[in-house]
Amino acid sequence: MQYLGLLAIILAAMQFIPSYEKSNPPVDPAKEIKAPKEVMKVFKRSCYDCHSNQTNWPWYSDVAPMKWVVRRDVIEGRKALNFSIWQEYSDEQKKELKKQIYRSVVIAMPLPQYLWLHPEAKLTKSQKDLIRNWASDGKGYIDVDIR
Ligand code: HEC
Repeated sequence: MQYLGLLAIILAAMQFIPSYEKSNPPVDPAKEIKAPKEVMKVFKRSCYDCHSNQTNWPWYSDVAPMKWVVRRDVIEGRKALNFSIWQEYSDEQKKELKKQIYRSVVIAMPLPQYLWLHPEAKLTKSQKDLIRNWASDGKGYIDVDIR
């Protein structure tokens, strides 16, 4: 029994450990990515929580230890790729990001810890094809370096 008490104290104390700021910076529709409707639907459902300024923050993004993971994923995700400011990227950056998107949708994205709680965000084979087709400008194939 005393272990439960100790656990409660530890959990309570954890809530005071500072974490990343939780924010949704303002969105300017002119800067948002423009892609065909079907492609946007996939991005919005499966990627926007971490790769846009329109994150739907879940309740556990306020509760340690979950909030450490959730907030870090969003901060790091936006840094790597932010669909809300896509038009601010240079042509070179867009090209590189499209390559990375092409590569990431096969296994890496969305992240497993996200899929665990958002199974509906998992990409089907046809959604992966759709995104890869868009990312390769309709060619369906990109010359990508395998890392
Ligand atoms: C749970 C949050 C989360 C979701 C949802 C998510 N990502 Fe990410 N993504 C990240 C994080 C965090 C990084 C940066 C860390 C890293 O490099 O591994 C990242 C990095 C990336 C990168 C940069 C290159 C790379 O592979 O590191 C691309 C491209 C990407 N994501 C695409 C997507 C796409 C496309 C989707 C939707 C199908 C998606 N992500 C969904 C969190 C997420």
